[in-house]
Amino acid sequence: MAKINLKLLKIEAKKEIKKTESLDYLNKIFDKYLGKKGIVSEVLRSLKSLPQTKRKKTGEAANDFKREIGELIEERKKIFQNAGYKIQDTHFDITAPGKKPVSGHLHPLTLARKEVEEIFENMGFSVVEGPEMESEWYNFDALNIPKDHPARDQWDTFYLENGLLLRTHTSPVQVRYMEKNNPPLRIITIGRVFRHEATDASHEVNFYQLDGLMVGKDVNVANFKAVIQEFFRRFFEKPVKIRLIPSFFPFVEPGFQVDMTCLNCEGKGCSVCSQTGWLEMMGAGMVHPNVFKNSGLNPKFWQGWAFGMGFDRLAMMKYKINDIRLFYSGDLRFLNQF
Ligand code: DAH
Repeated sequence: MAKINLKLLKIEAKKEIKKTESLDYLNKIFDKYLGKKGIVSEVLRSLKSLPQTKRKKTGEAANDFKREIGELIEERKKIFQNAGYKIQDTHFDITAPGKKPVSGHLHPLTLARKEVEEIFENMGFSVVEGPEMESEWYNFDALNIPKDHPARDQWDTFYLENGLLLRTHTSPVQVRYMEKNNPPLRIITIGRVFRHEATDASHEVNFYQLDGLMVGKDVNVANFKAVIQEFFRRFFEKPVKIRLIPSFFPFVEPGFQVDMTCLNCEGKGCSVCSQTGWLEMMGAGMVHPNVFKNSGLNPKFWQGWAFGMGFDRLAMMKYKINDIRLFYSGDLRFLNQF
């Protein structure tokens, strides 16, 4: 047997133990030095062939090595075990499927909003905004709804301590915009509105509206029909027809309700449209002369149309959602579908 220098071997073994990063490797070190077929066993087996004087010394050194290195290995083992290291931790399976990072996504109302804005922008409309906390003047008076007008009942709201109120519709934005911008103009606004009313599957105290306005020298109802029909066609990606039915809103004259062919039965009549083939979509009309006056424009020079509709309803129809409250519930089972 080649001569083994136990002193040098001990230094080497200590270094190796220090460097180990896994139990697995530590066990290998144990086998190499202290195992049945390890170096120390070999030394002990070879003792009988040594002269008497050397035998005792070498035997002591070998046992010393065994004890010291054995203790160091035990210590190191404990460190791994306490840190929760396991033999398996040192391997990792490159064929295992990866964990997909959870990424966020847009709310259905935001998705619908982006689409609507894009469609109108492509038709030359600007997207504008107005305050949710509004004055009585813009929410009512400027839109030709004076204090004693019964139409105020329809738009009951939350009155704030600072004298303002939460807007009940996005129509005040029309007045605000006309005050600052000269016609010809084309705008839409999408925003949050509030109503003091009971909540159910189609009513919320807080919801969204889309209002539009087009003003020029000779802007008329034919323009309105063309723009709105095209908007619905692009938004629902289906050919649709619209029809106008006389209706009343204080801020337009004449005023109308706009119906669209039922998307479910394509006008044939079904339970969704109560067998009529039509769905009621929005209120609209030709801007009332008083609204022009209240916005600083001369109704003799300008004419135009305006419309307003529930934006949640539009998104509900597009994505086939049957309860408006889902938009505001924060329920991930609903939201993760988008
Ligand atoms: N602001 C109305 C509402 O909240 C909807 C509406 C009707 C808006 C006719 C308009 C319009 O701009 O011309 O019910």
